[in-house]
Amino acid sequence: MSSPLPDACLDQIFREARTRNGWQPEPLAETLLRAVYDLARMGPTSANCSPARFVFVTSDEGRETLASLASATNGAKIRQAPCTVIIGHDLEFMDRIPELFPHNPGAKDWFPKGSELAERTAFRNGTLQGAYLMLAARSLGLDCGPMSGFSNDKVDAAFFAGTTVKSNFICSIGHGTDKDLFPRGPRLSFEDACRIA
Ligand SMILES: Cc1cc2nc3c(=O)[nH]c(=O)nc-3n(C[C@H](O)[C@H](O)[C@H](O)COP(=O)(O)O)c2cc1C
Repeated sequence: MSSPLPDACLDQIFREARTRNGWQPEPLAETLLRAVYDLARMGPTSANCSPARFVFVTSDEGRETLASLASATNGAKIRQAPCTVIIGHDLEFMDRIPELFPHNPGAKDWFPKGSELAERTAFRNGTLQGAYLMLAARSLGLDCGPMSGFSNDKVDAAFFAGTTVKSNFICSIGHGTDKDLFPRGPRLSFEDACRIA
């Protein structure tokens, strides 16, 4: 039976976690990157379709390419971070549904290739998986720095050429510093953002 996580865990994952703009440059072990994905992949997606595809950019060459395709401020952050993950989604995710959703392999046909529903499903669930990745990284003691200020088309050409994968957003991960950390922004109250119907 599940029980609430200790406050220290909730602090680490939510209350005290900040979007980082500065990074300690030490490389991250591949075993840690794999551990992040192993947790993130367990988050739910519709029909278990799992459309997200992740590129963990850790090489000097990859980092420089990605940085050059981002805004100047984001580029500087990418150059400093030990790893920046490109969160993409495969528009042909349905090909893997028979394997991923074995109790109903025909669910593949719910998402005709090239349809608006297929694109919306890939984007919706890929975005969710990007969020799972951030929570997984924080759960394993890493910081995150998500960014959308870059050219999706150019990143797709540089990292996903010849595939049906499209980039969504990118997220640096590693051990953050307080460089350029601005004060925590307020969040909407329950009354402002929610209602119980
Ligand atoms: C999808 C996404 C895209 C973002 N894009 C950028 C960006 O391009 N550049 C930037 O400096 N911050 C970017 N941010 C950072 C947000 O401004 C930041 O997460 C938010 O203000 C909350 O900050 P906090 O986590 O420190 O409370 C982005 C965040 C998300 C989730």
